[in-house]
Amino acid sequence: MSDLYFLSSNIDKYEEIRVALKRHDILVRFRKRRLQELQSDSLNYIALEKCKIAFKVISKPVIVEDDGLFIHVLKGFPGPYSSYIFKTIGNTGILKLLSGSNDRSALFTSVLVYTDGEITKRFVGKVIGTISLKANGKGWGYDPIFVPPGQNKTFGLLGEKKTLVSHRAHALTSFAMWYNRYKSRKQLLKLVRRQKPRI
Ligand code: IMP
Repeated sequence: MSDLYFLSSNIDKYEEIRVALKRHDILVRFRKRRLQELQSDSLNYIALEKCKIAFKVISKPVIVEDDGLFIHVLKGFPGPYSSYIFKTIGNTGILKLLSGSNDRSALFTSVLVYTDGEITKRFVGKVIGTISLKANGKGWGYDPIFVPPGQNKTFGLLGEKKTLVSHRAHALTSFAMWYNRYKSRKQLLKLVRRQKPRI
């Protein structure tokens, strides 16, 4: 059984992470927890601090993830405040702010942090897409209004394909490649230590 945990209050996010990591033979378990989220201008700082809190809660290898939607014409707003803005003005508010704007480009960033108490590593995934003219499709958060690059559909209309092309997918691929190497190295070290003759 896997000893890697993902702590979050968002089960939809977990489902995407589970599917993406399974492709790399990594099993991840979910613990539903609303972790204290610090307000900061830096997504990296928020994610790193959240990961420290998560590890204190679970004392097992853990990943947490934080995201920000940076809209170019709005000078990067809502960025690190994406969660608060979604809860307050939501997709309707974002679409209103962009009404009449020709520049609809936006960067979606994912910061994923792993720690096992010994090592802490950060992985970043980014996609530059566009904000649609109107909300389209299902999904959670900004899914109905974010169109990833190379697609003419919002995340909300992509279904499972989202787990291959999203900002999160990019961060997860980097994590998975590193994590599998890290685990093999740890196993090898364990084996070598066991075989070392004691003098
Ligand atoms: P958080 O870091 O999970 O709090 O994400 C910040 C905000 O972006 C929240 O309102 C999320 O709902 C939203 N968000 C994060 N990732 C995605 C995504 O993949 N699709 C749509 N919305 C997202």
